[in-house]
Formats: sequence, C-alpha cells, structure tokens
Amino acid sequence: MILLKTKEEIELIRDSAQLLGKTLAEVGRHIQPGVTTAFLDNIGEQFIRDNGGIPLCKGYEGFPAAFCISVNDVVVHGIPSETLFIKEGDNVSLDCVIELNGYVSDSAYTFTCGDPSADMQRLLKVTKEALYIGIEKCKAGNRVGDIGHAVQQHCEKNGYSVVRELCGHGVGFKMHESPNVPNYGVPGTGPLLKEGMVIAVEPMICMGSKNVVFSREDGWTCRTKDGKPAAHFEHTVAIGANGPDILTTFDFIEQ
Ligand code: MF3
Ligand code: CO
Repeated sequence: MILLKTKEEIELIRDSAQLLGKTLAEVGRHIQPGVTTAFLDNIGEQFIRDNGGIPLCKGYEGFPAAFCISVNDVVVHGIPSETLFIKEGDNVSLDCVIELNGYVSDSAYTFTCGDPSADMQRLLKVTKEALYIGIEKCKAGNRVGDIGHAVQQHCEKNGYSVVRELCGHGVGFKMHESPNVPNYGVPGTGPLLKEGMVIAVEPMICMGSKNVVFSREDGWTCRTKDGKPAAHFEHTVAIGANGPDILTTFDFIEQ
C-alpha cells in the first residue's frame, strides 16, 4: 500500500532531509587521500546524533554502519572499513538514511577524491543529470515508469548502463515503503503518482555493463561485474501540488 503524506508530514520529512543534506556535505568535506571509509562513517554518525537524528542504516537487516560508502566499482552498499583507504582519483559514494523526530529521509551523493579522470567526471555528471531528469517526472498524474524511462534514456544515450537489481522506493515513515521506483521502464506504466507521495529516486549507473555481483563474504557489497566504476545519486522527493518538491539537498556540498 502506498502511504500518502499530509502537508504537515511533508514539512517534517523536509526537516529530516535538510539535516541529511548537511550530513552528506559534512562527511564529504573529510574525503581526502589516506582517510578510511570507517573514519568517514564515524564522523557522519556523530554529526547525525549531535543534531538529534538517528542513522537508520545502522542495524538495518544487520548492516553494521550509519553510511553505505561505495568506492569506484562498488555500486552501492559498501560497508565502511578500517582498512579501506581513500586515494586520489577515487569516486566515493555516501548513501545515508536518517530519522529525525520520527520522519525518514534518504539521500546519496558520489564525491571524488582530488582530481578524477575525465571519464569519471563525465559518469558523475550524467548520473546526476539523470537524477534531476527523473525528478522532473515526479508529478501527480504521471506513472512510476515515466521516471525510470527518463533516467534510463539519459544514461543509455550517453553510453552508460542502468543497474536492474536495485531501485528507488517510497520513504518518509520508514526507510523502504511502496512503490518500488526502478531506474528503467516504459512510459505510462506502473503505479500512478499522486500528490502526497514521497519517494526516493536513486539512479545507480555503470560506466560499463549493467551486471553487478553481491559479495559472498559480507552479503552487502554490490560491485560491477566488469570492475568498471559506477555512480549513485539520490534525493527524497515529494509529489507536490505544483510538481516535484525535492526535500533533500546537495546545496551544502562544495564539490
Ligand atoms: N540507502 C539505501 C537505499 O537507498 C539503503 C541502504 S541499505 C542499509 O535504500 F542496509 F544500509 F540500510
Ligand atoms: Co534509497
């Protein structure tokens, strides 16, 4: 069942989402050669708690950390590690879900460490563009397939591929609500978008082929099968009376 949110509830989700935007920026500022992904996770968890939030990934189905931190060929769900050191040129995606005053928001941003290659920069640019092109479709009267189609078109026309195993989702009262929001699809198909729905739109895009593998050791880490880089950007978006209302923000991020 798709749960609709009132205007008041959407404002509370926005408060959560704004704190999450500040959190991603705060952690992003600490990305530099030699830091570990566990260090970044600790900084972020402290920041969330200092501001009255709860990091919901921690303990979710056994996930051990506040952030998913996914480097280079890790698409999503990277587990922060004391032995994974960031190096110059890496792409580092931070994905985090928080609860503030009972309301839940979800956002991700792929940062780079130092000067990435031109190929990497283009992947990040196109994936971020795809996020906003998908969000433009988040209007009452459209369908979920319109979002996925728009994301897929933009990425494929730029020579990239779309991960099929994972998708966006409803959010706001819990981390994962209905409906699923795939990053591929057929226009005019899927659940109808209605005012008051809140969804996480989150393109996960590969430089090479779309195939991914999940780690057999930890059960979480999702990598590209061909070892090429991937990118991930995510916003929590409300379907507003006048179109998409982006509740999370990248405005605090310097990159
Ligand atoms: N933020 C992810 C999503 O977009 C979920 C992370 S899985 C977790 O759905 F276990 F880390 F929570
Ligand atoms: Co999500």
